Amino acid sequence: MFKLNKAAKTMAVVLAASALALTGCGRAAAPAASSGAAGGFAADALIGVALPQKTSENWVLAEKLFNDGLTQAGFKGDVQFANGGVAEQQNQISAMVAKGAKVIIVGAIDGGQLGTQLKQAKDAGATVIAYDRLLLNTPNVDYYVAYDNFKVGELQGQALLDGMKAKKPNGPYNIELFAGSPDDANAKVFFDGAMKILQPKIQDGTLKVVSGQKTFEQAVTQGWKAENAQKRMDSLLVGSYGTAALDGVLSPNDTLARAIITSVKAAGKPVPTVTGQDSEVESVKSIMAGEQYSTINKDTTALVNHAIEMVKGLQKGTKPEINDPTSYNNGTKVVPAFLLVPKIVTKANAAEEYANDKVLGPLTK
Ligand code: BGC
Repeated sequence: MFKLNKAAKTMAVVLAASALALTGCGRAAAPAASSGAAGGFAADALIGVALPQKTSENWVLAEKLFNDGLTQAGFKGDVQFANGGVAEQQNQISAMVAKGAKVIIVGAIDGGQLGTQLKQAKDAGATVIAYDRLLLNTPNVDYYVAYDNFKVGELQGQALLDGMKAKKPNGPYNIELFAGSPDDANAKVFFDGAMKILQPKIQDGTLKVVSGQKTFEQAVTQGWKAENAQKRMDSLLVGSYGTAALDGVLSPNDTLARAIITSVKAAGKPVPTVTGQDSEVESVKSIMAGEQYSTINKDTTALVNHAIEMVKGLQKGTKPEINDPTSYNNGTKVVPAFLLVPKIVTKANAAEEYANDKVLGPLTK
């Protein structure tokens, strides 16, 4: 939604490059000048981490990793979940500001609903880092650290095509499309990435969305809840698939993929090619058992570590390293981002992808 198209992106790169040339600055990793922009703070400062609801395993992992990592780095961590919803997350961020947090890392439930609290944070001199999900329509966000969400969508779209082709070399293929929760800024980006790959194949007739539900708004899953995806799949099967085969389902993550598979099995149909994301334990088992087709490896440890590295740099008064200064326009500003590279995982490369993962590695043996 907020990714710039290619032309705009190129233009932004050109502008950014000429701005750098004019100011004579190098990459953003260079130490900040003594302007006070990132003047450093106490080595044992309070760092707030506001996480959303526990809608997937990665958030639960992140909680422990932030607690352990911040403590190890010498900071005081204040890591909170907002299982009660947006109002709870707003209160948690305000409380972090009141307690004097120097950096507030936010994985938003709804990236557009935190404007007041983020302004409080900036007014109090804190640095705000959007974690995994972009913070929208506010100037009060300094950095974004995430896996490349658009790329995640592209990988899912391609995996759907590959998985169906492996089972049946030629189309047309009957498919259905699922998206994540519309309040999560990532959901539309995942969907757009996937549709970049799938749309031309819908247009040329290789793919048929039998229900006709092709838009993001029709495909969304409120709250990223498994039961909502399962119910929608149930009704798509009843409404659009009598004796017709269902070849594939675009699922934005593993939790929803398993719900979709449960629904299809309950309807007595063979398991179609279903995509996913997050490398959740149950989905990796399902992939190895030949049910779910793919997931995405977005190692949470690497993401949390990068966020903590940013905090360490800020503590010393240096500017965090950025590798994408132009792509993420939040509606108010282009937020300097550090993007990590997501990887597609199927049964074919799972052992290799999870070789160093103590939990997932053994599942692939
Ligand atoms: C994350 C996904 C996750 C989803 C639901 C998204 O913002 O990027 O990894 O599956 O939230 O928790």
